[in-house]
Amino acid sequence: MIYLPHITGTRGGVSVLREERLSKCKIIELPKITDAKGNLTFIEGNVHLPFAIKRVYYTYDVPGGEVRGGHAHKNLQQLIIAMSGSFDVILDDGYGEKKFHLSRAYYGLYIPPMTWRVLENFSSGSVCLVLVSELYDEKDYVRDYEIFKKIVQSTSNSLGTNGK
Ligand code: TYD
Repeated sequence: MIYLPHITGTRGGVSVLREERLSKCKIIELPKITDAKGNLTFIEGNVHLPFAIKRVYYTYDVPGGEVRGGHAHKNLQQLIIAMSGSFDVILDDGYGEKKFHLSRAYYGLYIPPMTWRVLENFSSGSVCLVLVSELYDEKDYVRDYEIFKKIVQSTSNSLGTNGK
């Protein structure tokens, strides 16, 4: 999947290339202690991640062909790790999308606030671990894609720029 940046405004008559919110979505390589007895990875909040970890959850026994996610968060940040098996994460900032394939327990995908995410293509036996910056709060979810787009666009408009 190819992400194309958008020209969203002008400054002094010159087109301004929108800074990609998606560029903040990135793979973080976690420490890995390799050992003939088995490898070990550790994660410290605010050290290996740009946030303190307040909550951990994981999904497992996901039936083949199932799709999870389908929402954005207003404030919280997350790191997603394929602890076992593999799956794809499609991220969308309301202007474009980017697809990540996760398959290693020492890589985490960092997702900032206001990023629409869909998880799919789960392999059999996959486990998706999520480290989160906030406690669970349903009010932090945006579960309607059209509302998500409106929020992103209204933020952009109210800033008079691209809102980034
Ligand atoms: P949801 O975040 O929609 O799952 P996914 O993005 O993986 O598809 O959550 C599914 C359900 O679980 C929903 O009813 C809310 C509940 N839930 C909690 O109670 N606590 C949590 O920490 C999480 C992540 C979800």
